[in-house]
Amino acid sequence: MKRTVSGHVLVSVILTVLVVSMLAGCAPKSATLDAIKKAGVLEWGSDPTFEPFEFIDANNKPTGFDVELVNAIAAKLGVTAHMTSGAFDGLLMALDTHKFDLVCAAMTITPARQEKVLFSIPYYRADMGIMFDPSKNTISKPEDLVGKTVGVQTGTTGDISARKIAGVKVNSYPDIQLATLDLVNGKIDAVVNDYPVCTAYASTHPELKVIDTTTIAGEDLTQLYGIAVRKDDPAFKEAVDKALLDVVADGTYATLYRKYFFVDPPYLPK
Ligand code: ARG
Repeated sequence: MKRTVSGHVLVSVILTVLVVSMLAGCAPKSATLDAIKKAGVLEWGSDPTFEPFEFIDANNKPTGFDVELVNAIAAKLGVTAHMTSGAFDGLLMALDTHKFDLVCAAMTITPARQEKVLFSIPYYRADMGIMFDPSKNTISKPEDLVGKTVGVQTGTTGDISARKIAGVKVNSYPDIQLATLDLVNGKIDAVVNDYPVCTAYASTHPELKVIDTTTIAGEDLTQLYGIAVRKDDPAFKEAVDKALLDVVADGTYATLYRKYFFVDPPYLPK
């Protein structure tokens, strides 16, 4: 008899432990999310020199596809979003030191960055672009950059890719606008940067041409952008992914895509 009772106790203890851990598995605790909800604000970082993803508008306000996307994600989490600007190559470090809780900056998911942070599911797919003035240079492929001076933004995938072509002189700039300025002024021969950002710039500079580039030095240049969060809070990554999927499901993602890229999204985050 005594045996049976302790058997029952044991079974119910095991069941309780199972149920509790299953529930915990459904809604993992995120310290970051708790803090954000308490404050009512999602603090995020970006480098708003990257039109049409993030840039400062005529009223001195951050705007762009990423900016509106993060606002929509924040709304799904029940909070507002506040952006802090920083140099692109310092954003992940600032995330790590809790200057903000999320980075959204047209940031390509790369293995090197994945060592430092967690990325959301990819939310945008881009090629690389080579932008130049055809009245000054003839360029039809990455190898044509050999012997030329190329402008890039420091620490970006454009920077890393351009350096892979032997014989190219790479000038790196703190932001890509400074590189494009030097291109327009004839100080450099080309700019290597994400294709959608090149085309947005060239749309107001018809003297410039952009080549869509998918490989450099044999390497795939497809850029999948992700939202970065700290590595120690996987539950926050889950919450961001869920909010992003909600933004896709209610049609906001497609609306934003059409607003900034003038076509239907060829790819929906999933
Ligand atoms: N996609 C490129 C990268 O991840 C460039 C991103 C630059 N973003 C910016 N906001 N300036 O390296």
